[in-house]
This record gives sequence, C-alpha cells and structure tokens, in this order.
Amino acid sequence: ITLNRRAFCGGLAGAAIARPAWAATDPLIAQKASVQLAPEGYPATPVWSYGGSIPGPLIRVPQGGRVTRRLVNDLEVPTSVHWHGIRIDNAMDGVAGLTQDAVPPGETFDYDFAVPDAGTYWYHAHTNSMEQVARGLSGVLIVDEATPPDVDRDEVLMLDDWLLDPDTGSFVEPFTHPMMMSHGGRTGNLIGVNGQYAYRMQAETGERLRLRLINAANARIFGLKLDGMTGWTVALDGMPLDTPEKVSGEIVLAPAQRVDLIVDITATDGPAGLLMSLDGDTWEALVDVSITGTRPPRDTAPAPLPANPNTALPDLSQARALDMVMEGGAMAGMDSALFQGDRLDFRALIDRGQFWALAGQAGLSETPFAELSRGEVVRVRLDNRTAFPHGMHLHGMHFREVRADGAMGPLRDTILSIPNTPLEIAFTADNPGKWLLHCHMLAHAASGMTTWINVS
Ligand code: C2O
Ligand code: CU
Repeated sequence: ITLNRRAFCGGLAGAAIARPAWAATDPLIAQKASVQLAPEGYPATPVWSYGGSIPGPLIRVPQGGRVTRRLVNDLEVPTSVHWHGIRIDNAMDGVAGLTQDAVPPGETFDYDFAVPDAGTYWYHAHTNSMEQVARGLSGVLIVDEATPPDVDRDEVLMLDDWLLDPDTGSFVEPFTHPMMMSHGGRTGNLIGVNGQYAYRMQAETGERLRLRLINAANARIFGLKLDGMTGWTVALDGMPLDTPEKVSGEIVLAPAQRVDLIVDITATDGPAGLLMSLDGDTWEALVDVSITGTRPPRDTAPAPLPANPNTALPDLSQARALDMVMEGGAMAGMDSALFQGDRLDFRALIDRGQFWALAGQAGLSETPFAELSRGEVVRVRLDNRTAFPHGMHLHGMHFREVRADGAMGPLRDTILSIPNTPLEIAFTADNPGKWLLHCHMLAHAASGMTTWINVS
C-alpha cells in the first residue's frame, strides 16, 4: 500500500455536510452504506454504519436525561453498541459476551439508560470491535450541561484513520492481520474528520468556539497543535477540569480519548485550524478554518465547565493495590518475532491468535482480573513491559492517575500507557457490574489485551 495522506491530496473542496438531526426515539440502524471517505476522484467506500453515515447520527441529550435507542441490526453479522465513557447501567454497556448477547442479524436490542455526567462521549460497536469499528460503526454522544459555557459555537471533530485500498475504496483486509495485531495495531493510510478527508470550517476572528475532539481511530495516536487560535483544555474524556488549562504545545489524543477545548480565533486572514503530526516533526493541516469576518474578542479566559457529580477523590488510605503487568507484542517480523515478557508461553498463545497479555491472561477469561466490593477503592499499577504504547480503557467508571508525588490527575476513562513507564490509576468501584478493562488499540484488545473486573 503506497497510499498516504499526501497521495490523497489535491483539488478537494470539502464542504461540511449538515449533521443528521435524529429524534430521541429513532432507531439506531446498523447497516451497510457507501460513503465517500476518500477525496473525490477516488472510489467511495463500502462501510458498515449507523444510519448510513460516518460518523453515525449525533446523539445529544441533556444531563440527567436518558438515551433511548433501539439498535436494529441490518448487518449480516451480530453486533452490539457500547456507550464509551458513560457511567452506565451495566446491562446497557453493550459488551457482547460479557454484559449482553450480540444482537443477531435482523434482530433488535433496546438501549435505554440515564446519563449522569455532562460531556463528550461516543458510541461504537463492541462485538468484534476491531473489524466493526474499523468499518465505520461509531458515532458521537453529547450530554449537554444545563448551563452551557459562553461560546459562539459548539463543534464536534471526530478524528478517524482508515486503511483503504485506493483502487477500490474498500477497507484493506484481513482485519486480523497478525502483523498489525502483534505490533502497533491497525493504522490507516487516510486520516479524516467527521467522515471526510478534508474537513473545513469557517469562523470569524475573535470568535470563541468549543471544539469537541474525539479519537475514533483503531490505533492511531494523534499529535495535534492549534494554529491561528489560542485555546484552553476544559474537559478530558467528558469530565470537566477544575480549572481550564491553557494549551501550549502538542495535544496528544490516544484512541478513544476526548478533549474539549475552548478556543479563540486569533488569525486575521488565515491560516487557522488544527495541525497534526505524522512523524512528530512536520505538521500539516487536519482541519482548515477559513476566516470569514471579525468580531470583538472576549478578553477573559473561559470559566470552568460546571462540575459533574461524583468527582470526589478516591481515598487512597483505604485503597487495595493491584498490579497489571502488560506483556507481549512482536519486536520484529513475524518469522523472527521476539516476544516481550517472561511469564507466559507466547508461542502457544500465537497459535490461538493471541499476542498480548494483561496480568498473565491473554484475552477475556472466566475469572475477572479483580473481584471488588461496591465502594471499594482500588489502585492499579499499569506496568507496560511491551515495546508499544497502549490506550487503556476502563468501562463504567472514570479513574484518576496517581502521580509520582501522590497528587491525583483529572478524571479519565482512557489513559495512554508508554513502554517502560509504569503508571498508576485509582478509582472508587461504585458502579456494580462486569466492566471491561482493555487496550483501545482494538487489534491489541482482540489479541490478548482485554480483561474485566467485577463490582458487586
Ligand atoms: Cu470504547 Cu471497550 O470500549
Ligand atoms: Cu494496546
């Protein structure tokens, strides 16, 4: 595959398409569709979608309200929907094989749950998610604060990364390529925003925007910079920061992570937008903002978003400490693969398509990684002994990083773990049920980096 972002470049005037406005009771139909992900001139892509669009329909509800959607499975394979980052009723978490049976083709499943926390969330398939999410089964879920922040506009930017055959427009198969699974995961050759290769926006100098960035990619970690705007981070993974943090330098967004920014447009005639780095060195436009006018800028930094409930710090004096060694992955080509880790016979695991292990287990097992009593405080040490970064995600509850000095980081549901840099997370296990803890590089999750905890 020689296709890259630059190969796709040129002659593209991508106009923003209006977002579908769906009523609260509408079904969510998992269906095949054909979508122009690649620039014009290249073939359209046969996708699996929610409602025929990439991303799926924007679902937007007020904080404290309910999401009520009937999943209709019009695909030829079983599927289910996970509502990423929501402190959800366990039965609605959408994990096939753990919290529900996958919905067979032609059948339906009614999702109906309360949303206690405002913020930027997303939903995606959680049945064979490595393939189903890669084929397009994801969408945005926004829970609105009762009092929105003082901004001129609220924009969603869902970042994705597709691996396409430029001759046919189809996704490159197989999805279970051992080289991808055992290395960095499935990274694409075409990066896009809101289902488009060249996503453009318009804004006026002086305008203040809320930008909701979501990384829906299977494996790509985005390094981003603001261009022609100044900004503040106001929320991570949906959860407001106590104090907005001025953006300086690079914004790193691991798969499944979200960041809410409030930005002031400072460029007077361009360029402005979001830049991304493919190699850590050179920056290119990911989102172009064209300047259409001027208005008087605000002269104060944004106020914090209103706090969500349930943000109390976990009491570490009571905490149970758990250790999660992360092992596996290939260091070289598959024939001469050198597997990290000394506690497991990876040769045997490879025979069943498993390349990774969490706490000595490769893949979902009958017994959870931890049995927790409701209300118990836990700290988990994530010890990444692999050669790759991993975006570790806990379902059902947000956690905080416990920093070296004992201070606690902001609430998150997904955290980037860097090789040979152990990190610790802590949370109060206050949501009963069976909750996955897995890498959100979905090829890794499918080949060993998936475990679960039980809270009862
Ligand atoms: Cu967004 Cu189990 O995942
Ligand atoms: Cu991983």
